[in-house]
Amino acid sequence: MARLKVIAGNWKMFKTNSEALQLANQIKMKTTDIKNTKMIICPPATALAVVNEVIKDSVVSLGAQNFYWEQEGAYTGDLSAGMIKSSGATYVIIGHSERRQYFGETDETVNKKINTALENGLNPIVCVGESLEERESNITDKIVSKQISGALKGFNAAAAAKLIIAYEPIWAIGTGKTATPEQAQEVHKMIRDLIRNLYDDDVADNIIIQYGGSVKPENADILLGQEDVDGALVGGACLKADSFSEIIHIAESL
Ligand code: PGA
Repeated sequence: MARLKVIAGNWKMFKTNSEALQLANQIKMKTTDIKNTKMIICPPATALAVVNEVIKDSVVSLGAQNFYWEQEGAYTGDLSAGMIKSSGATYVIIGHSERRQYFGETDETVNKKINTALENGLNPIVCVGESLEERESNITDKIVSKQISGALKGFNAAAAAKLIIAYEPIWAIGTGKTATPEQAQEVHKMIRDLIRNLYDDDVADNIIIQYGGSVKPENADILLGQEDVDGALVGGACLKADSFSEIIHIAESL
């Protein structure tokens, strides 16, 4: 069955508003010929509204990188799902390994955030992935299964169907090291089988599972060519319109 390829760019803590405006414009212009690939860009929260103005009439969708799970309240410095939504975002990254590593996010907070995102009409991109030590100890499947089960706890099939899962081995993020296509496929298949067990064939066969970790134009075709790899969550290579658009065009050509 053919699933849509979904390419998302995670801008992380890069780009001031003027830089964001420029990058969003370039991406929009370079992807006007794209028909069958879903594109999402996730600028920093400060640039969401600015970028939304650029892409709102295009096929590029807007995503945020984070928010807090409470609807509103005295949480100085944080942002709600409603605020993200009102800036034009329709997607949000949840549980990125950098959030888990530096900001104490856990499977429980990921679970709460998915709930709030769905309540606010945001589509979650839920990140999972093992560390190098975990991979070398042969517990990748166990770690990733636990992250997925924890994230999905309490959600029915209709809710689970709204998610995108991003498998991002931590050792491959920002390191230039990529999982081999076989390593990626193996974990993606494991994730899809787990979703099948937790829910049903329909959810499992349709859910988008992205790969993330040093995806670039040079390796995009081989990774995206794997049966259970439905797209990519791109960090470094999405900060330049040329390389991001190249990855999108590779996805479109497959
Ligand atoms: P990278 O980041 O492409 O720079 O490895 C991916 C990510 O963190 O989502």
